Amino acid sequence: MSDAENTGSEEMILSFLAEAGDEFVSGEVISDKLGFTRTAVWKHVEGLRAQGYRIDASPARGYRLVGVPDRLGPLEVRPLLATEDLGQTLHYFEAVDSTNDRAKELAEDGAVHGEVVIAEAQRAGRGRRGRTWSSPSGRNLYLSVILRPDLPPTRAPELTLVGALAVCDALRKAGVDAGIKWPNDVLVGGKKIAGILTELSAEPDHVHWVVLGIGVNLNARTEDFPAELRDEATSVLIERGQPAPRALFAAALLLTLEHWLTVHREQGFDAIREAWRSRSVTLGRTVRVRMGDRDIDGVAEELDLSGALLVRTATGVERVMTGDVVLLRPR
Ligand code: BTN
Repeated sequence: MSDAENTGSEEMILSFLAEAGDEFVSGEVISDKLGFTRTAVWKHVEGLRAQGYRIDASPARGYRLVGVPDRLGPLEVRPLLATEDLGQTLHYFEAVDSTNDRAKELAEDGAVHGEVVIAEAQRAGRGRRGRTWSSPSGRNLYLSVILRPDLPPTRAPELTLVGALAVCDALRKAGVDAGIKWPNDVLVGGKKIAGILTELSAEPDHVHWVVLGIGVNLNARTEDFPAELRDEATSVLIERGQPAPRALFAAALLLTLEHWLTVHREQGFDAIREAWRSRSVTLGRTVRVRMGDRDIDGVAEELDLSGALLVRTATGVERVMTGDVVLLRPR
């Protein structure tokens, strides 16, 4: 049997055991339902155990799943995935330079809408505006989603706000009080917990692909961040005092992202804008916007119909398309 066939069979057995929860499932039921011999079932269970799955076996009662390894591979994520298309093809790596770079290569080679690159670690994780993204192994979530939206390139930035919305909602479901700082930083208590890096290839009237790169600090401890970030960054573990199950979070995030992408496609940017505004920690605040060559200070008044931030300054209203927002006064 090839490696891929083995993985497929192990995945089927795992889904079966996961669905049964705390209950035992007899080897006979598994072999009947999946069409394997009893010996093959036993061999696959052994294969799963060798990969860190804890599976109880009782001659009278069968098999029961009692523990899964903290990994983000297809075996861990796929059984939890309830999406139609996002993540149905998962490209998993122990380490890559950047999941965005890998996703861009795949997109150029013809990857379809919804393919996801996910890694345990990044050697050269990238943030916005040329910054690096701290990517320690096995602690956080680093993934990139390939999208093929039917949008003119001018509307592609809307997808970054869709991504921020999905990340914010997934974090709230995971029990942290997340909010969005324009355009797409996700903060908890003023500290950054997640970021999004969007890259695309387009012609003047057509988007070939968009790569939505998402980094979420899930189980990083303070000492996992570089010293200069320790006061500015946080994670679910730091906020809640207990680790987040990473595979479960990844599956929930992809489902939430698929939901908001559907809303965007069917109802347009207005619906996204409303949802984004209600989760914003920027609107109504006194801010400094760093725009490369100059800074502007003012009050962040509104997200406009194209996703730009409107800032009221001493001299009038400025429309900001790109930049870094610093929240000046704590609320
Ligand atoms: C930012 O806030 O500056 C954006 C951070 C984006 C980080 C993610 S991690 C997965 C993907 N791969 C990368 O190299 N970057 C994005």
